Amino acid sequence: MDKKHVILVGMPGSGKSSLGFILAKLMWRPFIDSDYYIIKKEKKTVAEIFAEQGEDNFRKLEKQALSEIIASAPAVISTGGGMPCFYDNMDIMNEFAVTVYLEMTHEKLFEHLKNDKKRPLVKGKTPEELMDYINTTLEQRKQYYEKAAITVEAHNVTSVQLAMNLYKIING
Ligand code: S3P
Repeated sequence: MDKKHVILVGMPGSGKSSLGFILAKLMWRPFIDSDYYIIKKEKKTVAEIFAEQGEDNFRKLEKQALSEIIASAPAVISTGGGMPCFYDNMDIMNEFAVTVYLEMTHEKLFEHLKNDKKRPLVKGKTPEELMDYINTTLEQRKQYYEKAAITVEAHNVTSVQLAMNLYKIING
């Protein structure tokens, strides 16, 4: 693997953080979650940043976080679901990392998000609104996610199995 980082992209609820945590252990690398990087820096939750400063400002913080994280030692990085879809973030990720798209069915995403209380773009939605959100958001974002170097099916497989498979793929 000649690229510095491994970056996981995909929809909220696709399991990027769980997979990233395990993959980082397998690779003996630090694990960085872009949302937690922003939370720590701003000393505010993502929901608070959305409520107080709006989504546009969150996207700017995300872009800044990406350039700082990229400059760090080789890591496994999980990204917020929207990060690859704003500015030139996906191109930057592809330049400095092996990017991995965690593909997941609409049904599984729905299962994972239906009781979510912390994601500002998801919480408080009725089941119909949530399914609609998943359909339209995935449709818009697919074009960015699909620029990833590697796509893996993240449903019907545990995070540990997926991490092992990915570890083998990345290490040839
Ligand atoms: C977002 C996904 C979240 C977080 C923010 C916005 C999105 O991250 O960055 O709430 O636009 O899809 P997860 O993908 O980890 O839920």
